[in-house]
Amino acid sequence: MTRLVHLTDLHFGRERADLVAPLQEAVRACAPDLVIVSGDLSHRARRAQFHRAMAFLRGLDLPFLTIPGNHDVPLFNLVARMLFPFRGYCRAVPGSMTPDAEVGPLRIFSANTADPHSLRRGILRGRDLKRICAGMRRTPGDGVNILVCHHPLREPPGFERGETKGAAQALPQMQAAGLQIVLSGHLHHWAIGLGITPETPQPILQVQTGTALCGRVGETDHGFSVLDIRPDDVTVTPWLADEASSFHPAAPHRYLRRDGLWHIADQRVGTGVSPL
Ligand SMILES: [Fe+2]
Ligand SMILES: [Fe+2]
Repeated sequence: MTRLVHLTDLHFGRERADLVAPLQEAVRACAPDLVIVSGDLSHRARRAQFHRAMAFLRGLDLPFLTIPGNHDVPLFNLVARMLFPFRGYCRAVPGSMTPDAEVGPLRIFSANTADPHSLRRGILRGRDLKRICAGMRRTPGDGVNILVCHHPLREPPGFERGETKGAAQALPQMQAAGLQIVLSGHLHHWAIGLGITPETPQPILQVQTGTALCGRVGETDHGFSVLDIRPDDVTVTPWLADEASSFHPAAPHRYLRRDGLWHIADQRVGTGVSPL
């Protein structure tokens, strides 16, 4: 079994200060093989905010990879936003903005869906799609292809932030290339399974994790996801913050893959599209 922690939307600069140390402690306690951070490391793409985000991630003392989110692009400096939108992120985060990784049977690919031309809506670029599909096609038959992106490729019911540009056309192509699991953030809202129910199994398991730390007024879905993955058998456990600012595991969601489709393994623990 391979264990991932999915963290997203840290928003350093507008973070819940009381959750920072408990989050670090809880992630460490999970002892994942890899921590995946799907963007919005900072709140306003400022140097000090990136610095604090990276200090937090390095302080986990675990392997991690990150991608940018829309908040990692300058908002008010229009020159920077248009001419060098990812300069601050790249200065703070060494290596590729779209890192890949191999962990056990997992093949992890990433897309940078942040679009400087849009405040909220994301974009799946053709060059990312091409690279991701080519990589996934090379995965051995017993491997598990996972995509990480900031913006959800499909919005859960009730959300109208704008579909990620290019995603609807890309999903069938990525499915044909062997995509099995998508990890995304941005909505600061939980939706595990995204459309997978006992009646409607799906080829792609989409895990939409809440915000790790964002302290804006009205934010309630604080936590992270733990994924325990075997080929064709995945358990997703949300870890949620309580009123005492500590994180605890909630009911797990287990999915099995049969005939190329994900099914809920046990209705007592899996509820399909499920805001928590
Ligand atoms: Fe965010
Ligand atoms: Fe975002």
